[in-house]
Amino acid sequence: MTRNDIGREDLPRFPDPYWKDFIQLPTFPALQEDLKVDVVIIGGGITGITAAYLLVKEGLKVALLEANRLVNGTTGHTTAKITAQHDLIYDELISHMGQTKARLYYEANSEALQFIKQTVSEHQINCDFSQQDAYIYATTKEYAHKLEQEYSAYQQLRIPGELVNDIPFDINIHNALSMKDQAQFHPLAYLDKLVQLIVENGGLIFENSMAIDLEEGDQPTVITREGQRVTANYVLSCSHFPFYDGMGFYFTRLQAQRSYVIAIKTKKEFPGGMYISADQPTRSLRSVSMNGEDLVLIGGDGHKTGQGKDTLEHYKALEAFAHEVFDVKEILYRWSTQDLVTLDKVPYIGEITANHHNVLVATGYRKWGMTNSTAAAQLLRDMVLKRDNPFLELYRPSRFYINPSLREFFAVNLDVAKHLISGKLEVPDRKIEDLADGEGCVVLYNGERAGAYKNEKGQLFVVDTTCTHLGCETEWNHGDRTWDCPCHGSRFSHTGEVLEGPAELPLKRLH
Ligand SMILES: Cc1cc2nc3c(=O)[nH]c(=O)nc-3n(C[C@H](O)[C@H](O)[C@H](O)COP(=O)(O)OP(=O)(O)OC[C@H]3O[C@@H](n4cnc5c(N)ncnc54)[C@H](O)[C@@H]3O)c2cc1C
Ligand code: FES
Repeated sequence: MTRNDIGREDLPRFPDPYWKDFIQLPTFPALQEDLKVDVVIIGGGITGITAAYLLVKEGLKVALLEANRLVNGTTGHTTAKITAQHDLIYDELISHMGQTKARLYYEANSEALQFIKQTVSEHQINCDFSQQDAYIYATTKEYAHKLEQEYSAYQQLRIPGELVNDIPFDINIHNALSMKDQAQFHPLAYLDKLVQLIVENGGLIFENSMAIDLEEGDQPTVITREGQRVTANYVLSCSHFPFYDGMGFYFTRLQAQRSYVIAIKTKKEFPGGMYISADQPTRSLRSVSMNGEDLVLIGGDGHKTGQGKDTLEHYKALEAFAHEVFDVKEILYRWSTQDLVTLDKVPYIGEITANHHNVLVATGYRKWGMTNSTAAAQLLRDMVLKRDNPFLELYRPSRFYINPSLREFFAVNLDVAKHLISGKLEVPDRKIEDLADGEGCVVLYNGERAGAYKNEKGQLFVVDTTCTHLGCETEWNHGDRTWDCPCHGSRFSHTGEVLEGPAELPLKRLH
């Protein structure tokens, strides 16, 4: 059996992504004192790091605060395709926002790809950057028709692409739509260099420094969990779920979607290209190179965080797909992560709410954050420097399109209400005594709903499953051994510690 073999009872609690086996970013101290800087950035993923890199290059004094370790969030668990082909999107954008905005979305993401390519070349970054064609493929008639509509959108928007009948895998497809000259890379190797450049240009980076509050004003102040204060002309919220939520704007407009990835060794060479299915459940393919040998990353099987079946089943579904399509030698890695989706599928980048000109946000990349984050970092830089940027209106968080935003707004919030109520009404039918070693589940404990996990040594951890954000009931995530909230995607370790916000406080320990 291999290290991360699916179905093993001692799966690592936090399965490690492939990327981290090859690159370890440097560590940074926690913030110990109050600071005054030009710009304070919250969050050390690709958005925060790219923004910090761009701003220090402009000579600004920048502090970046990361709650945990750099790139430990979604960025460290991505599949890192760098492309403007974001599933089926352009036909939908044309019908909801018009041709001009749809074209702008394409331009923002294509320019971001070019920016990454240029940065790699300028700094000679050794990050396995390679140009690849991207493909969406359809395995059903229904989706073949949608791909034809998407192709027609490409033509209206002058996006170079081609409708083809074949892809080089043993997958029965109806058609596939290509976008030429996209790319892929090793995201941590790329960001490692940007971090080095930030430090060389005087940028300050602090890890284990969670921002928990903001005092608004001409010079807003970020307050950390340990009570340090960082005052700046601008605050950039690059924390994935915004660490500060103006007036409850984001809780009602973002939903968290979790997806799974396995990395496999195959007997045959990978033919090149990056692929994604149009049909559900999503299947995404790309290769990575390990010691001169290709591995294939297979991603997909997404669902709303904290909802649906046993999360191990998602890994098993990817494993089954791997065996159908490839001659699998070995499954070397498995991991999962989540991204945020906005009401109209376009990220929120800009003033956090209409009356906050100096608190800016970037979030909601819908699993297409390599280019969207790079476009975000450039837009945030331009806003700080009061420069024009062609994508300001496209990404403005306060925009609202009657269709689909209204429909999605009700759907998202009905779903939250449903989980809030159903979680409270649920009477668990299991008890702590029923738990096997290595198992976790919701149990009846002292007459109340509680979450229990017994590790392989029989040690028991019991928590109050009520999410410390807005009180929904968290569910057990078997694959990652975490408590996940179905309402806004907060995640907690088996001991109750916050792994992912918007929650800031741990779950209450009961045992
Ligand atoms: C399975 C999967 C595959 C994907 N594959 C692709 C792909 O192939 N191509 C693509 O373009 N996109 C892909 N994406 C999307 C992309 O990875 C993300 O959109 C992107 O990494 C998000 O980056 P970020 O910097 O905004 O967030 P993150 O990387 O999550 O960074 C946010 C950081 O903020 C920190 N933080 C949070 N709260 C606080 C706080 N209060 N104080 C201080 N710090 C805080 C977190 O610890 C974290 O490190 C994928 C997403 C998923 C889920
Ligand atoms: S209630 Fe909002 S994340 Fe749990």
